[in-house]
Amino acid sequence: SDHTTLDVYRGSVLHFTADPLHHPEGTAWHEDGLLLIRDGHVVAAGDYQHLKDALPDGQSIHDYRGKIIMPGFIDSHVHYPQTDMIASPSPGLLPWLEKYTFPTERKFSDPEHARDVADFFLDQLLSCGTTTAMVYCTVHPESVDAFFAESEARNLRMIAGKVMMDRNCPDFLQDTAEGGIRETEDLLKKWHNRGRQLYAITPRFAPTSSNAQLQLSGELAAAHPDVYLQTHAAENVDEVAWVKSLFPESRSYMDVYDKYGMLRPRSMYGHCVWLNDDDRRRMAETQSAISICPTSNLFLGSGLFDFANADKQHVPLSIATDVGGGTSFSMLQTMNGAYKVARMSGTFLPGLRMFYLATLGGARSMQLENTIGNFVPGAEADFIILDPDATPLLARRTANTDSLEELLFALALLGDDRSIQATFAAGKQVY
Ligand code: GUN
Ligand code: ZN
Repeated sequence: SDHTTLDVYRGSVLHFTADPLHHPEGTAWHEDGLLLIRDGHVVAAGDYQHLKDALPDGQSIHDYRGKIIMPGFIDSHVHYPQTDMIASPSPGLLPWLEKYTFPTERKFSDPEHARDVADFFLDQLLSCGTTTAMVYCTVHPESVDAFFAESEARNLRMIAGKVMMDRNCPDFLQDTAEGGIRETEDLLKKWHNRGRQLYAITPRFAPTSSNAQLQLSGELAAAHPDVYLQTHAAENVDEVAWVKSLFPESRSYMDVYDKYGMLRPRSMYGHCVWLNDDDRRRMAETQSAISICPTSNLFLGSGLFDFANADKQHVPLSIATDVGGGTSFSMLQTMNGAYKVARMSGTFLPGLRMFYLATLGGARSMQLENTIGNFVPGAEADFIILDPDATPLLARRTANTDSLEELLFALALLGDDRSIQATFAAGKQVY
């Protein structure tokens, strides 16, 4: 089909225009709906009855009645090089990094290995309905080139960056403050806004960056306000104690990043299990975002994310798999984890909110709400077909739901990659 072709999809259309926690009207649901796509972008989304008369004569329709058509999922924190070490048992984060993560990441000095893993990783994301992710590569620039090359070949909207670490890590993964920044600058000039690729400045976390490397990261971010920044924060109590000993002058873990100018829009902080009210206030003031990683936090025993206080202080939120710390590539399984984490920390997470966090919540955290994560006219046509009847159990359960909330809740708790019937990126079917 040429670029002027109109593609029309009919099914139950779901997307969000605001956070359903604060705005009940933020849910757009068209039970018998249409999604109109032209040239890789959304033309319109709405009720079949309202839109059908405006269609050109003889327009063909892709019929997905009985299925849900919604924006592709956004995974706001994931490590593609850790694909091959998912589900590696360990008593906690720091021994897990030493025993599995660092030796696995060593292999990404080989560009062919990096291409092979990136290819498999992207296939996994697409089969799980994830169309955008914010991705850690390794310390090797080759690992970044490999990832973006594979993403560009599929025309996906991806954000990624070279990990920087100049201390407290094995020699074979160590860069230097100046060298890491120089490589980062070269890579961001090469890849940021090339097609749909976006760059993230990626100091791994405070313990593996010197003061100089953090300082330079903050300065580079200030020089490029449209570039992303990603790191880990306050994931695990042993890590928090380590940061306290490495940065005794700082008020808290988040305060280390604050001191180096790293709190800003487009900064994405993974985990944030162990924050205090001042940390959350500073994040909200600066529009720095939290990437909640529930399956990872449960798997590594890191702790329970505090949804209530994050929402009370209006910190931008999204959810993420954090593979290989996380145990699934599926954002539905990630919702399942988030629900139980919230439950255990005394909060109820509705189905609508979970689907918001996995779509528009991620897009807003990335300042991309006009581009991905919903169906506003002009948005990029990254969308999925969700099948509420994908398994015998799902079919029985969803036949007995009485509301959209119950339907989405059942899909969040029972769904996984089997629930994804098709995935589209920039209007083209990619799974
Ligand atoms: N903290 C620093 N590096 C990592 C990592 O690779 N995974 C997780 N979960 N936490 C980290
Ligand atoms: Zn991580």
